[in-house]
Amino acid sequence: MPEPLIDPLLLAERRGRFLRQLGGAAAVIPAAPLVTHHADVEHAFRQNSDFWYLTGFDEPGAVALFLPHRSENPFVLFVEPKDPGAEVWNGFRWGCEGAVAGFGADLAHPRSELAERLGGYLEGAEGIAFRVGRHPEVEPLVLKAWARQLDRAPRSGHAALGLVAPCPLLHELRLRKSPEELLRLREAARISAEAHELARQVVRPGLNERQIQAVIEHHFLEQGARGPAYGSIVAGGDNACVLHYTANNAALRPGDLVLIDAGCSLGDYYNGDITRTFPINGRFSGEQRALYELVLAAQEAAVAAVAPGQTAEGVHDTAVRVLVAGLLELGLLVGTVDGVIEQGAFRHLYMHRTGHWLGLDVHDVGAYRLGEHHVELEPGMVLTVEPGLYVSDRLAVPEGQPAIDDRWKGIGIRIEDDVAVSEHGHENLTAAALKAPVAMER
Ligand code: GLY
Ligand code: MN
Ligand code: MN
Repeated sequence: MPEPLIDPLLLAERRGRFLRQLGGAAAVIPAAPLVTHHADVEHAFRQNSDFWYLTGFDEPGAVALFLPHRSENPFVLFVEPKDPGAEVWNGFRWGCEGAVAGFGADLAHPRSELAERLGGYLEGAEGIAFRVGRHPEVEPLVLKAWARQLDRAPRSGHAALGLVAPCPLLHELRLRKSPEELLRLREAARISAEAHELARQVVRPGLNERQIQAVIEHHFLEQGARGPAYGSIVAGGDNACVLHYTANNAALRPGDLVLIDAGCSLGDYYNGDITRTFPINGRFSGEQRALYELVLAAQEAAVAAVAPGQTAEGVHDTAVRVLVAGLLELGLLVGTVDGVIEQGAFRHLYMHRTGHWLGLDVHDVGAYRLGEHHVELEPGMVLTVEPGLYVSDRLAVPEGQPAIDDRWKGIGIRIEDDVAVSEHGHENLTAAALKAPVAMER
């Protein structure tokens, strides 16, 4: 029998906070389904992060109900029941008894009973919190239960229910990581950083990008992670200018840089997300070094800006200012820092944001802004800081900006760390992956 991966007390505490925040609304939170990728072959199961955060239950097809309007048994799980025949093919299931004993469910039922029981459980709730558009198997059942309650509202004595999104409440909780979650993110960062250090030691001209991917992902698995948190990017030369390059099937050429963007996902789904860029033959060219030092300066300035009270927008702006000032000095842009930023005239060279929240999802949940207000960083929030420069012909040079000399082309650089906001500043979780120019050469 597998062990539950999250401390039941932590889960109970999370659920308690979620139930309190729901007020009188009931929440319906489905697990992820199994997904096939060809014929009847399934992808490795990946639990839905909202469901996981609240239940720690790692099986497909389950549904969790949170019922704060009921005086008892507010946490109900619908799960696939024990079935020796199915378990011979697909492995252990906790079943209804296991869902209660191992995961703190107050009640558990077979998933097949959701349709008939859902309406009853929602009776008396002041609303239904359910994310429409994401769960095609569960959504019709929720809508049917909702419709039935609306029909009956005049005589049932219960107010007509509103359907609301659970995301704002739940994602607010997930945005602020507990000390236990920070430990897990440190572990994901440790393994991910080690993999980058190993990769840099083996890169040589003539190797295929995929061989470097193998070194990285071998380390993830060997250290007990589930595997890569996202499609690992190993991009030699101009391939690095394709932001989501995952083909990873080109020979590494001397004189080029290689950009590696890879991080692991742990057994309990916490993720690392690191990018490093370095010369394949161990020596930067003049142009490569100039751009590398510029991206590094922008990245270090942006990391240094991470502190309570700052915003993700402010971190991005910090990186952009350093990049634009440096590009003006190098002659790759003309004008003033403020003028170039105002016109967005740097976006053919730097076209993405400087980071994102990190947690159970690589691009983790949580608002960056609420109306005009940018969300302020608080201790426990974790974000990536990942500026870059990508010099290629893919995007047109904006009017008034200089054509780019060929010697700069085919250089793609990104440097990405995972940074936790601390009481008085920040903690760089991925500092063990070196990035100083001297460490990038050999
Ligand atoms: N690896 C995905 C990202 O950096 O956002
Ligand atoms: Mn990344
Ligand atoms: Mn990232």
